[in-house]
Amino acid sequence: MLVQRMCMLGFLLIVGIFEIDVVYGYNRPPPRQTPIIPNSDQNSHLLQQVHISAVGQNKMRISWITDIPTSAKVWYGPSPSANASSATGTTSSYRFLLYNSGQIHDVVIGPLNPNTLYYYRLGDPPSSQTYNFKTLPSQLPIKFAVVGDLGQTDWTRSTLEHVAKSNYDMLILPGDLSYADLVQDLWDSFGRLVEPLASQRPWMVTQGNHEVEKIPLIHRTPFTAYNARWRMPFEESGSSSNLYYSFDVAAVHVIMLGSYTQFDSSSPQYNWLKTDLQKVNRANTPWIVVLIHAPWYSSNTAHQGEFESVEMKASMEDLLYQARVDVVFAGHVHAYERFTRVYKDKANSCGPVHITIGDGGNREGLATKYIDPKPEISMFREASFGHGILEVVNASHAQWTWHQNDKDEAVVSDSIWLTSFSSNPSCNQ
Ligand SMILES: *[C@@H]1O[C@H](CO)[C@@H](O)[C@H](O)[C@H]1NC(C)=O
Ligand SMILES: *[C@@H]1O[C@H](CO)[C@@H](O)[C@H](O)[C@H]1NC(C)=O
Ligand SMILES: [Fe+2]
Repeated sequence: MLVQRMCMLGFLLIVGIFEIDVVYGYNRPPPRQTPIIPNSDQNSHLLQQVHISAVGQNKMRISWITDIPTSAKVWYGPSPSANASSATGTTSSYRFLLYNSGQIHDVVIGPLNPNTLYYYRLGDPPSSQTYNFKTLPSQLPIKFAVVGDLGQTDWTRSTLEHVAKSNYDMLILPGDLSYADLVQDLWDSFGRLVEPLASQRPWMVTQGNHEVEKIPLIHRTPFTAYNARWRMPFEESGSSSNLYYSFDVAAVHVIMLGSYTQFDSSSPQYNWLKTDLQKVNRANTPWIVVLIHAPWYSSNTAHQGEFESVEMKASMEDLLYQARVDVVFAGHVHAYERFTRVYKDKANSCGPVHITIGDGGNREGLATKYIDPKPEISMFREASFGHGILEVVNASHAQWTWHQNDKDEAVVSDSIWLTSFSSNPSCNQ
């Protein structure tokens, strides 16, 4: 039995290295350590890894994990006693090889008032610990924190510290969360690392290659941990998969796409996207923002020519262009790059601005080599860790800033005002 386990672990290691940590032809600078967040809280068997996500315009999903079966119940209200209302939800768990997850609780609460501080407690009877969050604004302005390829290193910590100071309303993440890479305990430590932020503001995520966690013959189902731990409001947008969905917040329509599930023109994702874009009413949501993992535009030498970038772009770029999507955020390349408005590799004043923000703090280090000379459509590129803030001010104007944390301080390094297509008659069909 022991020998069998050792063989399997050895095999996993090899599969892991080849499937996930594919080595590309550039030298990354030394990565920082992965600090394991100890499960030190003496009450942690009761509850841990609390994070919240928006469901519709006035509800919130509360997610947390307990070691032992407990009630999926949330007590909440506008006062610190958190006792005005309660709601119950569902509990699930999953197995991954020898690992058994804790009890994963998901409870949707609401209706809630916009832009309001709520307090909440978990379980039944309710936990002694009280959490709080602020609901989303129902109108502009709104401030998004945008962080890709987050990981759980010391770089991640400095990124999160800077994000916490930004007073953001919602965090949106274009894939690659924990870098657990089959080691499921690292999903738990990631959950504990992000809890201070993710329990206070909604975190809306999509998945990257590090979420796939598929092992030929041994664990064939992809996204097991991701889907169990980071359930997003896909049904509400008519999607049949947690891997792609959309939602409206304030006056912004946000679309989360899945770079590692089917995207060809006969795929469910493609058909869902087409329908979703047709439903957008620019009078209600003048802004459309899309998140993907593998960038469609990049002049970094890392990850050039990958299937998920090239083929997804070939399949879906027309849909986004015709719908006049304002901005596309991507991750995957561990660096920052901003393009001008583009369509089919050329500057096009009616195409989306593409931004790669894969520099949250992953354990693999930065992608520092760029294609020379810099393509004309690339406006700004730099390999530093950091995060972005998209502040949508009104129906026509939004300010994008990139904050790098190379010196362990958040420094605004790139900043630009964006104007929406809904306010630009020359691109309206
Ligand atoms: C909530 O808690 C407060 C303070 O403990 C108490 O005064 C109030 O009666 C409670 N409300 C309900 C509905 O239980
Ligand atoms: C929108 O915000 C921009 C930037 O602050 C400002 O210049 C513009 O006048 C605003 N538009 C409206 C209609 O308020
Ligand atoms: Fe990636």
